Amino acid sequence: MSKNPWFDKWARLAKEKGYPARSVFKLKEIQEKFRIIKPGFKVLDLGASPGSWSQYICEIIGKDGRVVGVDLEPVKFHSKLFTFIQKDVFELAPEDFQSLGIDKFDVIVSDMAPKTTGIEITDHLRSVELVRRALLLAEHFLKQGGSMVAKVFDGPELPKLKKEFEKIFKDVKIFRTQATRKGSKELFLIAQNRK
Ligand SMILES: C[S@@+](CC[C@H](N)C(=O)[O-])C[C@H]1O[C@@H](n2cnc3c(N)ncnc32)[C@H](O)[C@@H]1O
Repeated sequence: MSKNPWFDKWARLAKEKGYPARSVFKLKEIQEKFRIIKPGFKVLDLGASPGSWSQYICEIIGKDGRVVGVDLEPVKFHSKLFTFIQKDVFELAPEDFQSLGIDKFDVIVSDMAPKTTGIEITDHLRSVELVRRALLLAEHFLKQGGSMVAKVFDGPELPKLKKEFEKIFKDVKIFRTQATRKGSKELFLIAQNRK
């Protein structure tokens, strides 16, 4: 039996509910508080593997919505509302979305995380690099009025990163979910109302 009660609780619940990863509970908490995703929305999910965020988003958007997931790794989730692009986010191009008939998204979420080294500053800077890439994609592919959720590992670059978000969004908050492990540096930037 695992000695980690946190792992048992969230992992067991994810399994019970049929989600491929326990990280779904973080997005659920964000959605319940900020109501970012709505029926009919087109959502881009960056760092989508194994697929629990995309699966949860599909439940909200309904038959008129669409989710596009991107990850280096394959996903374990399939739905006719969901299209998966197996690619590095640094290699995404406008054609990837145009070929799907999508010009702009209502929401962009990123749960991307670098392979952690255990060296806090290195993990922080690599995480910030992924968030900056997600923000650049938002500048190109997010509708006016649209919102974004991005996971980041806390560290010295965070205040600067938040300011970069504030240039593009009217409301930017930093949120820590209950489902995040104790002692983890993980935070979420919640950016609403793209200018
Ligand atoms: C915490 S997992 C995402 C879990 C997912 N949200 C879910 O609920 O199933 C982080 C993901 O970010 C992906 N990732 C990291 N760097 C990436 C990159 N440069 N391009 C695409 N995906 C990346 C990893 O492959 C990993 O699958």
